[in-house]
Amino acid sequence: MTAPPLTADEFHLLAAAAGAAPSLHNSQPWLFRPTPDVRGLAVHLDPTRGVPTTDPDGRALHVSVGAAVLNLRIAAGRLGREPRVRLLPDQSQPYLAAEVDLSRLAPAPAPPGRDLYPAISLRHSSRQPFADRDVPEAVIGELLSAAEAEGVVLDVLEEAAVRRVLELTAEAERRTAADLARLSETRSWLRAEPAATDGIPFDVLGPLDHDARVPVRSFTGSPPGPAVHTERFEALPQVATLSTRTDLPVDWLKAGQAMERVWLLATAHGLRASVLHQAVEWPDTRWRLRDPSQGPGHVQLVLRLGYGPPGPATPRRPISEILTTPDGRAAGDER
Ligand SMILES: Cc1cc2nc3c(=O)[nH]c(=O)nc-3n(C[C@H](O)[C@H](O)[C@H](O)COP(=O)(O)O)c2cc1C
Repeated sequence: MTAPPLTADEFHLLAAAAGAAPSLHNSQPWLFRPTPDVRGLAVHLDPTRGVPTTDPDGRALHVSVGAAVLNLRIAAGRLGREPRVRLLPDQSQPYLAAEVDLSRLAPAPAPPGRDLYPAISLRHSSRQPFADRDVPEAVIGELLSAAEAEGVVLDVLEEAAVRRVLELTAEAERRTAADLARLSETRSWLRAEPAATDGIPFDVLGPLDHDARVPVRSFTGSPPGPAVHTERFEALPQVATLSTRTDLPVDWLKAGQAMERVWLLATAHGLRASVLHQAVEWPDTRWRLRDPSQGPGHVQLVLRLGYGPPGPATPRRPISEILTTPDGRAAGDER
């Protein structure tokens, strides 16, 4: 049955959910426009909010927007609608990342406990040390299936592979810290002003690892030392990679959807996560992230999972900046 046109409140709910997605440096590189029939949304990449030195190909830009698309799909369920998504539907418009058609009513609401909508606002990056406690096999199984449903392979790594990936991450982190252009670009996303609506507030940054085992990103470029707060991280971090078979923009969007689905499901299970992206940002370390025994996969993202503090909320841009009304005006925030 065809659903009625979406109301302004429904568009607001959808854009708020989509805009809560994670993004590289909290750049929030997305724009949402109602479709002409007012029963769906076009999702656009916003290249003016890219991070071009760190992410010259727009891989992370697409991953971030893919995460926003996943949140839109989950929020559609909240409105009783069945989302039908076309990724990169028009070759002549490379910034049109997706069309999300919401013109069909959902056959049935998601059963309680399976609805990931509540996890959207609970999910945060947690850059703190995690407990030395394993993720149960049953939960890992659910995370693997969640990625698989998005056409992406999640590998929860064994010890030797964890060490290999962390070494590559540390190598990339050292390189980035020595690269003035990248460093100043990263620093430009740090925010001291409390009213900031994007970027990374200083107070969400975690400590560096006292034993340098877990190479969390030093957004300031400072290595561990007397001036930098350090703590002991978990002895053997639980690290997972998300890989795609090919390495095209559509794969990056899929990887973003898989990342967010896995992250929301992990959140619903009380798990925390943060991204270790440094090795993905250099072509040679990205290539070496692959597990050669697994065939020619392309690693798109490295996630650290575990039990620990939930992580603080980061700011988001007002809805009026990311959503236009059906007639193309900025949507109001007053509600
Ligand atoms: C593609 C991508 C790469 C990211 N890389 C890192 C990273 O290397 N280190 C880190 O601490 N967070 C990383 N993040 C997390 C973002 O900084 C975070 O999502 C953003 O600041 C918003 O905060 P939130 O996740 O708490 O909502 C990454 C996120 C994405 C989507």
